Amino acid sequence: MPEFPYSRLRRWPDVEADNLQAHDATDLLLVERALALDVPGSETVVIGDEYGAISLALTAAGRRGIRVHQDLATGRRALARNAEELGSGGFTPHELDEGLLAGAQLVLLQLPKALAELEEIADAVARWAAPDVVLVAGGRVKHMTLAQNEVLGRSFARVQAQRAERKSRLLVASEPLPVPESPPFPVTARHGDLVLVAHGGAFAGSRLDIGTRVLLEVLDLGGPQLRRTEVTRAENERNGGESSRSSGVVNGGRRVLDLGCGTGALAASWALAHPRDRVVATDRSAAAVASARATASANGVADRVEVTHDDAGSALAAGSFDTVLLNPPFHLGASVHTGAATRLFEAAARLLRPDGELFTVYNSSLGHRAEMSRLIGPTDQLRRTPKFTVTRTVRRP
Ligand SMILES: C[S@@+](CC[C@H](N)C(=O)[O-])C[C@H]1O[C@@H](n2cnc3c(N)ncnc32)[C@H](O)[C@@H]1O
Repeated sequence: MPEFPYSRLRRWPDVEADNLQAHDATDLLLVERALALDVPGSETVVIGDEYGAISLALTAAGRRGIRVHQDLATGRRALARNAEELGSGGFTPHELDEGLLAGAQLVLLQLPKALAELEEIADAVARWAAPDVVLVAGGRVKHMTLAQNEVLGRSFARVQAQRAERKSRLLVASEPLPVPESPPFPVTARHGDLVLVAHGGAFAGSRLDIGTRVLLEVLDLGGPQLRRTEVTRAENERNGGESSRSSGVVNGGRRVLDLGCGTGALAASWALAHPRDRVVATDRSAAAVASARATASANGVADRVEVTHDDAGSALAAGSFDTVLLNPPFHLGASVHTGAATRLFEAAARLLRPDGELFTVYNSSLGHRAEMSRLIGPTDQLRRTPKFTVTRTVRRP
């Protein structure tokens, strides 16, 4: 069988750089293991295939009918594009649900970063796959922890770690245990007037991120228990910024975007505080999208918060928002990389109407202010704590 041309795969539309590849040694180990097992494609499931390397190598080897779940909209697009480029098909995309896993004998998993995400996946496999399913989960040794074995051990009677190869390692889980009546996710927590609902893969889980909390305070959102009364117009002005009150955010009828919404904390808080506004929340993670929809429902604002699964709001019309709220990501994979934040600044520039406002919270150590001024328009600091900075950027006409 000819070698699969892994190097022809691309990460696009995800961030591309010389030191970033569209496959890794774990993909190769998972593919080798699957090819050594005699499980038909129709009973094989791939979860967490970043850019399609696993699914496409298996379909190229003649395994047809593979079911695939990818969390990220970018990964889904990369897989579709790579499949088209290589002229391969024979797999079907699914959400993380019964349709993905029913009757599966073999599940190949690129281990997710968050343990909660692994717990949700392990439960789903034990719940819906065939009773004799084998879950083969792989990762880079430097990112693996014993806690991952423990999490798998909650859903499987046998979990065996394999010998590391090429700095990657496989964990093989089998003999699914009886599952609890209701799945462990989503989880729910109340923060003042706000209820957050989170699936395992959503940023910060059902906690309210401290950066998000600072942004909510500055915007005077989130109800009395989240509001810090000392955050006043006077304080904001002393800090060299303008009060959010002076920016016209109090009166309704505005179009507001929560860009990279996670569990939808910003979107739901805005909708609760501004009943006449229409809010769109968008994220590239399917776990985030499901969480934000559930959060909107739990807060009774689902009719005013539309949630979309997309890369940087690419399907939304240019110039269609008065206000954008942003708590950008600052990690890409395991390395600190600001490319992911830049992508969202460019999106905000495209999506805001002229003179529209972007409110951003970010780690004070990052130089985002200059970049936002360059890409979008004049940027004022509204608040600075030792850890976080909140800015207001006005989109230049
Ligand atoms: C720091 S979290 C903030 C989440 C939420 N807004 C909050 O404040 O809790 C950043 C979010 O941006 C999302 N994200 C990163 N890159 C994205 C992109 N290109 N398009 C859409 N969402 C993206 C991540 O999935 C993550 O949910």
